[in-house]
Amino acid sequence: MSEETSRRRFLIWLGNIGLLTVAWAMVKGGLKFLAPPITQPLPGPVEAGLMGDFAANSLTFVPAAKAWLGRDEAGLYAISAICPHLGCTVGQVADNTFQCPCHGSRFNAHGAVLNGPATSPMTYLEINLDGEQIFIHPGQSVSPETRVGV
Ligand code: FES
Repeated sequence: MSEETSRRRFLIWLGNIGLLTVAWAMVKGGLKFLAPPITQPLPGPVEAGLMGDFAANSLTFVPAAKAWLGRDEAGLYAISAICPHLGCTVGQVADNTFQCPCHGSRFNAHGAVLNGPATSPMTYLEINLDGEQIFIHPGQSVSPETRVGV
């Protein structure tokens, strides 16, 4: 085998390694896109704070419950921050809407889908009061009209 042939084979081998590396990175990225990041069970009732901690017409993220706790003129409500598409944590954006950082789904202030890929609305969660203490139940959904306290 000549030196020229040996060098050519080495360069072909090196090129194939590069192509395999790029292909692997693409497959890994594709799998990450498809796999939901949240697979852990939801916690039980979560202490969210006291009634007086939440002003009227406010919306506050409660990390332990992965939920947004809102207060309007009818009372308190909680919306799950778990995206109905594949489970990323949905954040609030400046124009009073919610947006998922993973694939770009957007929801209005009431959790209704503005654009996908999510096809279902955000979930309202049960909350209850023990005196002034607010508890969010991340595993129990309620209708969007449900309010507690005033
Ligand atoms: S997880 Fe896909 S849009 Fe939220």
